[in-house]
Amino acid sequence: MAGNQTFTMIKPIAVKNNFIGPILKMINEAGFRIKAMKYTRLTKQQAEAFYAVHAGKYFFEGLTEFMSSGPIVAAILEKDNAVADFRKLIGATDPAKAEEGTIRKLYAESMSHNAVHGSDSDENAIIESDFFFSKMERFEV
Ligand code: CMP
Repeated sequence: MAGNQTFTMIKPIAVKNNFIGPILKMINEAGFRIKAMKYTRLTKQQAEAFYAVHAGKYFFEGLTEFMSSGPIVAAILEKDNAVADFRKLIGATDPAKAEEGTIRKLYAESMSHNAVHGSDSDENAIIESDFFFSKMERFEV
C-alpha cells in the first residue's frame, strides 16, 4: 500500500527568488498537509550525506555545492499516495521536460537548479524525513 508521507525541500535558488510562498500555496492547494517544516541551511557535509546515493556521479559535486549555498525549506508532507502525487505536482527532474502547471515548470531554472526536491519512494521519504526531523518536530493537525 502506498504511504501517506513524503519529504520535500525548497532549494536555495527558489528561496533566493522569493518562491517559498507560491510553492507552499501550490502544495497546500494540492491537498498536502504540513506535518513538519523548518527553514535551515545544509553544510556541504550534510548535503553530501543527504545525497549520498548520488556520490560518484558527475553532478554530485555541483549538486552538494548548490544545496549548501543558501537556506532551504525542508518539510514532511502528508496526503494519501503522497510520494506519487507529490512527484506529479512537482514535475520531471529536468524542468524542460516538466508538464505545464507543475512546480518545476513554473519555478525551476535547470536540472540542477530545479526548485524543489521530492522523495522518490516511501522508503526514501522515511530516510529523508528522519535526516531532518525528530519525533518532537512532527505534528498531527
Ligand atoms: P532532486 O530531486 O533533489 O534529487 C537529486 C538531484 O540531483 C535532482 O533533484 C537534480 O537537481 C540533480 N540531478 C539529477 N540528475 C542530474 C543531472 N543529470 N545533472 C545535474 N543535476 C542532476
